[in-house]
Amino acid sequence: MSIDQGTNSTRCILFDHHGRLVSVAQRPHQQHFPRPGWVEHDAVEIWRNLQRVMPEALSDAGAGAEEVAAVGLANQRETTVLWDRRTGIPLDRAIVWQDTRTAPLVEDLRHRPGEEFFLERCSLPPSTYFSALRIRWLFDHVSGLEQRAKDGEVLFGTMESWLIWNLTGGVDGGLHITDATNASRTMLMNIRTLTWDEELLAFFGVPRSMLPEIRSSAERYGEARAVLPGVRITAALGDQQAALFGQTCFSPGEAKCTYGTGSFLLLNTGTDVVRSRHGLLTTVAYQIGDQPPVYALEGSIAVTGSLVQWFRDRLGLISSAPEIETLALTVEDNGGCYIVPAFSGLFAPRWRSDARGVIVGLTSYITKGHLARAVLEATGWQTREVVDAMNADSSVPLQQLKVDGGMTADNLLMQFVADVLDVPVVRPMVAETVSLGAAYAAGLAAGYWPDLSVLRRNWHRAAQWLPDMDPERRESEYDNWQRAVERSLGWIR
Ligand code: G3P
Repeated sequence: MSIDQGTNSTRCILFDHHGRLVSVAQRPHQQHFPRPGWVEHDAVEIWRNLQRVMPEALSDAGAGAEEVAAVGLANQRETTVLWDRRTGIPLDRAIVWQDTRTAPLVEDLRHRPGEEFFLERCSLPPSTYFSALRIRWLFDHVSGLEQRAKDGEVLFGTMESWLIWNLTGGVDGGLHITDATNASRTMLMNIRTLTWDEELLAFFGVPRSMLPEIRSSAERYGEARAVLPGVRITAALGDQQAALFGQTCFSPGEAKCTYGTGSFLLLNTGTDVVRSRHGLLTTVAYQIGDQPPVYALEGSIAVTGSLVQWFRDRLGLISSAPEIETLALTVEDNGGCYIVPAFSGLFAPRWRSDARGVIVGLTSYITKGHLARAVLEATGWQTREVVDAMNADSSVPLQQLKVDGGMTADNLLMQFVADVLDVPVVRPMVAETVSLGAAYAAGLAAGYWPDLSVLRRNWHRAAQWLPDMDPERRESEYDNWQRAVERSLGWIR
């Protein structure tokens, strides 16, 4: 049984021995946008959704809890929840990874103590993206919170911590743990020792007593006794790391890109901590039990699928996400229009919290069809920037890209990605690789699968897109895109 607690919904999927999907239950949760740049979730709503989807997936499959070999969790990363250790009640809404309220703090950090201080320890650049600054922000804005945390009354967690604590008993002895992949996104964990870093804790003023214990990504944690008594939880990974695992990218040099709310390209770099010189993050890919951790280079793109959502929900130009493709197909090209969706600033490879979205190249010729194309192309160009950074960092250029996630259902987009990268793009049979990866890790720890080679044999190609774009056109459009990006930079002063 796999749980994917994502940015938009909480999903429970059952997989069989061949890695085939048996049943799915899913519930969305509300997105709160209380101010420009702020994004919040209600952690209690998410916990309630989890309590529903687990039994729903079982009853859909006509299965009983005793048939579940193990539970694995994958989750939206960096989203920050603080809760009261005694009552189990969150102290505020969860601050989501897309939220930019900490931008002024980020600017300070760039100057003092400077990027290098962070890169050396946690391998992350100062950015609104990671958790530590959100804890700092909450301390500075919720009266009495910092003191309560120092007194040991407050617990911090990303979504897997919050859910595992609740599943294993909450106020009645719940386990307060995280795994190394999630901890590697907080800015508080030392990337080499996989322990909380004293200097980072002191710098952000975060008391150690509020932090979860860091465990490996696949081991026996405890029992999901609040929902399915007797069923063991044996894995937790950040969702993007889970997708790398689900795509069976177990060897150095293998990469995948997951197209969801945002898009995240991860390249397995083996047991070496490789430092990027071109704006990628070094992150823990997974750690299985007491084996050495495996690392990855990551190109994180904040806004891709969420641009389609915005086009649908905020502009009302389509009524369902798949319609973006139909609308884009009403025109031949983008008509000279580019959209840079810097809604959360720009992540990899630029890391600019001061950027905001722009639409350029507007003329009276532009229709909503051209805008739809520009929406999809923004995902392609952002992927290209990240792949360029990855190629510049590694000695071997990317030969093919494994993709997954909801947006891979869009043929026009996937063809565009192949065109602008100039490499084949391939999608496996199970596109739900986040869930599959969490199930794989859980199944390995529980002995349901013996080793990685068995999992590799479950990977089957379902679709392939081959590059087919005139190189001159590709480079001139890429140049236009980059000029559009220049215009988004420095908008927030
Ligand atoms: O780092 C953010 C990422 O984990 C969110 O993924 O798929 O929930 O948008 P997703």
